[in-house]
Amino acid sequence: MPEPKDKGMTDEELIELARAAASKAYAPYSNFQVGCAIESVDGEVVTGANMENACYRLGVCAEQSALAIAQHQFGLDRVARIAVSGGTDSTVCTPCGGCRQAILEAAQLSGRDVEILCSSGDGSAVERHTISNLIPHGFGPANLAG
Ligand code: THU
Repeated sequence: MPEPKDKGMTDEELIELARAAASKAYAPYSNFQVGCAIESVDGEVVTGANMENACYRLGVCAEQSALAIAQHQFGLDRVARIAVSGGTDSTVCTPCGGCRQAILEAAQLSGRDVEILCSSGDGSAVERHTISNLIPHGFGPANLAG
């Protein structure tokens, strides 16, 4: 009998990586630091944080910075699970609309209802969502196929 496949890290560990990533954000304008950790189907993990700009509208969200690294490291089609953490108090940080759309891209490529663990900045509160529940009836690459 083959050994059962290693399931990778626990939810708590993935959230801790997102929280650690938030501490590396460049967010001098909003002072709202967000971190994101993305796990592949094989248990590889990449992280990212928001990066703001003096031209405010050019700021990049944590999820999109982590997704860019995920594409480089293992491919968007291998994204399995995502943790997001932001702020400093007990308010849960959920992905903004643009980030939901960016996650939907990976989810449709991978054919998975990607799980998103949303944590408060202090780590005391966590909500578990899936991309289909965060962006129902979304428009993605599947709509452009054929
Ligand atoms: N932010 C993220 O990085 N991800 C989200 O899903 C919500 C918002 C960032 C953008 C900006 O740098 C700061 O949080 C305040 O909006």
